[in-house]
Amino acid sequence: MHDKHSPAVDCCERAMPGIRGLAPYEPGRPISDIEREYGVSNIIKLASNESPLGPAPGALEAARAALDDIAMYPDGNAFALKQALAARHGVDAEYITLGNGSNDVLDLIARVFLGPGRNAVFSRHAFAVYPLVTVAAGAQVREAAPVAADGDMPYGHDTRAMAEAIDDKTGVVFIANPNNPTGTWLTADALRELFDRIPRHTVIVLDEAYCEYVDDARYPDGSSWLAQYPNLIVTRTFSKAWGLAGLRVGYSVCAPQIADLLNRVRQPFNVNLVAQAAALASLDDAAHMRRAVALNNSEREKLCAGLHALGLHYLPSAANFVCVQVPDSPRVYEALLHAGIIVRPVDGYGLPGFLRVTVGLPEHNQRLLAALEKVLA
Ligand SMILES: Cc1ncc(COP(=O)(O)O)c(C=O)c1O
Repeated sequence: MHDKHSPAVDCCERAMPGIRGLAPYEPGRPISDIEREYGVSNIIKLASNESPLGPAPGALEAARAALDDIAMYPDGNAFALKQALAARHGVDAEYITLGNGSNDVLDLIARVFLGPGRNAVFSRHAFAVYPLVTVAAGAQVREAAPVAADGDMPYGHDTRAMAEAIDDKTGVVFIANPNNPTGTWLTADALRELFDRIPRHTVIVLDEAYCEYVDDARYPDGSSWLAQYPNLIVTRTFSKAWGLAGLRVGYSVCAPQIADLLNRVRQPFNVNLVAQAAALASLDDAAHMRRAVALNNSEREKLCAGLHALGLHYLPSAANFVCVQVPDSPRVYEALLHAGIIVRPVDGYGLPGFLRVTVGLPEHNQRLLAALEKVLA
């Protein structure tokens, strides 16, 4: 694909076949784009599951202080941050692998355990990065059918279907708990039943990007299961409840032998100096994170009640977003943009007719509900 201004670039024909078939990840639209295109101001972005409370004040302070040192490379082994994370999870520091966001860790896992002749298993409406990293690594996608629309966790992970999709070529099983974009989640019992059916030579990725928000005794901390399931990699992020999405810090907790393999393909300085300092300082103020979670969970309840009052159907969510079904979703999405509210269509996730909305501050959620009421009238 080239026009008269760009030369024919023949080498593109030789890009690896899987890559040529990929569609790039579509992020939520940035505020500046909507300002330019729609001529609106006072925009709120409820499109990328960021924390409306932002980072802990101490994390900001640490990030600012770290700017003084950015002429230097960061600590490539992130000693202090790894120590702090290891202490948090009750493991040794060798269990921790840091990523430029947890997406980076997902990519490392795919590069180590996937490739031509292998496949990755995940549920149909699972996080969009799983197929991207799988195909980019040259492996096949094996999608498992989701829970039915009228199930307890509609469109969520059907653990039996996932177990049945696994074969001897399965390198990785990706499980998001809770899942994005459905917000659905799996109990410890359901997960164990699935894990017990996964062969030990297949890697289990338990993606806990939204774990902090789940308020239910049946929800497990996967990082406490590593002794029973040595093939388990748990991924976490500072992008959601910890409010550091823009700095890109994520990590995995897994057996040191696996971490050693991940480290062989990791870029030497994949987590920058400012990000390391901010993430470390944010761990010292877990109370800020807990406030963000408490606010999210009470606002999520109010938002759902408001959606229900508008006669809208939404998926039960344990995370910081809600997937809501609206009539003529492209029109509603556009109308919300004109009203200065950015949400996320999820057609690309196989959920046409749904919009994913991030839970914002109380005034954001009220503005969203009022705009929806007007649009739907
Ligand atoms: C389920 C899930 N996993 C992982 C990520 C990656 O987040 P990050 O790369 O910011 O850590 C996201 C981000 O939206 C997500 O929804």
